[in-house]
Amino acid sequence: MSISLKILKKKYSGCRQCQELVKNRSSVVFGSKHMNASKVLIIGEAPGKKEDELEVPFVGRSGEILNGFLEEIGLSRDEVFITNTILCRPPKNRNPKIQELKNCKTRLNECIKLVDPEVIITLGNFSTQYLLNTKEGITMLRGKIYEKEGYKILPMLHPANLLYNGMSKKLVKQFRSDFKKVKQLI
Ligand code: URA
Repeated sequence: MSISLKILKKKYSGCRQCQELVKNRSSVVFGSKHMNASKVLIIGEAPGKKEDELEVPFVGRSGEILNGFLEEIGLSRDEVFITNTILCRPPKNRNPKIQELKNCKTRLNECIKLVDPEVIITLGNFSTQYLLNTKEGITMLRGKIYEKEGYKILPMLHPANLLYNGMSKKLVKQFRSDFKKVKQLI
């Protein structure tokens, strides 16, 4: 019998596998508040400060940008499921460590199976390289569709790239064109 996302969330709510993260976190940021299977699964890197406080992924400025692009293709946050490569905020927002990714991999795989998306969007270098098992950079990988274990993966820039680059027109255009591909896939 398959378990639900709700049960999976409960299973990991007290996870203590990564000592350093456990010490630093206020919460375990499992994913979107709604617990529904969705056509689109979005995988970011790791929770930041605000996400850790509110226990929801992408609620800061990057999240606002993400919401805007989703709205442009007619999707609300409740129609996609969002999670990260790891569940807990790394100290000072450092990159997740290899061992932390390994510790969280079973959870991520279980989550992918339960959401059962038609497309997985990986945001930024980190989750893209991790999911596709490559060292190729996001600028080369973005906007193309890759097949892995029966799932379609569509890498995109991380919304934080737009913030760092003052919402550059070129990057906004790239985001728009990548999100249009999502629309075609669902
Ligand atoms: N950046 C991420 O990669 N994930 C979040 O949840 C928030 C910001």
